[in-house]
Amino acid sequence: MMLKIRRCFSLLSLSLSALGLAGLGLQAHAQGYPNKPITMVMPYAAGGPGDTITRVYAGAMQKILGQQIVVDNTAGASGSIGTAKVARSNPDGYTLLMIHVSHATNLAMYKKLSYHPVKDFEPIGSATNGPMLIVARNGFPAKNLTEFVAYLKANGKKVNLAHAGVGSASHLCGLMLMSALNVQLNEIPYKGTGPALADLMGGQVDVLCDQTSGTVPSVKGEKIKAYAIAGKQRLPSLPDTPAISEVGVDNLDISISFGLYAPKGTPKPVLARLTAALQQSVADPEVRNRLDAMGISVVNVDKATPEALAAHLKNEIDILGGLLIKAGVEPN
Ligand code: MLT
Repeated sequence: MMLKIRRCFSLLSLSLSALGLAGLGLQAHAQGYPNKPITMVMPYAAGGPGDTITRVYAGAMQKILGQQIVVDNTAGASGSIGTAKVARSNPDGYTLLMIHVSHATNLAMYKKLSYHPVKDFEPIGSATNGPMLIVARNGFPAKNLTEFVAYLKANGKKVNLAHAGVGSASHLCGLMLMSALNVQLNEIPYKGTGPALADLMGGQVDVLCDQTSGTVPSVKGEKIKAYAIAGKQRLPSLPDTPAISEVGVDNLDISISFGLYAPKGTPKPVLARLTAALQQSVADPEVRNRLDAMGISVVNVDKATPEALAAHLKNEIDILGGLLIKAGVEPN
């Protein structure tokens, strides 16, 4: 009996020392981190609002971390393909995910999601928050917001509404617009609103509700028309564009936050290094100015923390999943 207990203890002490060595290994790994380029996955197509935000942060954080950050646009299935890629990647700090509301909505939208947005990820911190803009192709037959609303109500499914897939920000905004106007438009999904915007400029689709980081430059370049901010306040960068609340539509008020994640199991010292680099980026005036010009707010430093991002994600999971199902969106 004694022999058995001694053997258990010896096994236990052996495993503890192994753990200790492993712990030393993790520390050493973190001390040398990063010693090679980092991949930041943006799970929507290049040229979209998420891609724009990701590239601003990748550019700022690589200067701080001293290693190149390569943006990887692995798009499709409302961001779940790129997200799954990060979930199954090595938890060593060299593969990160920049994502927004679809990290929450995909949990309700996909029956066979190969990852869990909370259990399979480590939050690093929130990065941005920003409004959405309702835009249309230049030839759209409405001179102002009042005529735009009347046209959608009168023409319904004859109007092609582009978005980036079920549960994406542009899809959520489109749903809220259709619900607010009590009208069903013809939905055209894309792998991101970058390609959707190209078709809007080409006149292949009629309307899009997208984040301002994807639309403000095209509006200013007169490549598309802006009809309204999807909320209650005008944008300083587009002072002549009304808020949709100005025509009595009060139940359409949406803003989109992006946050940075690493795969579950990434060593704590590595996560701390990434959070510190994110917080330095958030405080960087160049980052603030570039995003502010597109109507995007950089979060305050106290939001660029794992705790703040985890709380934000939980809130979105609790609220939005049910909202989509209630809106009659069929999970895939
Ligand atoms: C969306 O949710 O609509 C995406 O952010 C669009 C994109 O970034 O391409």
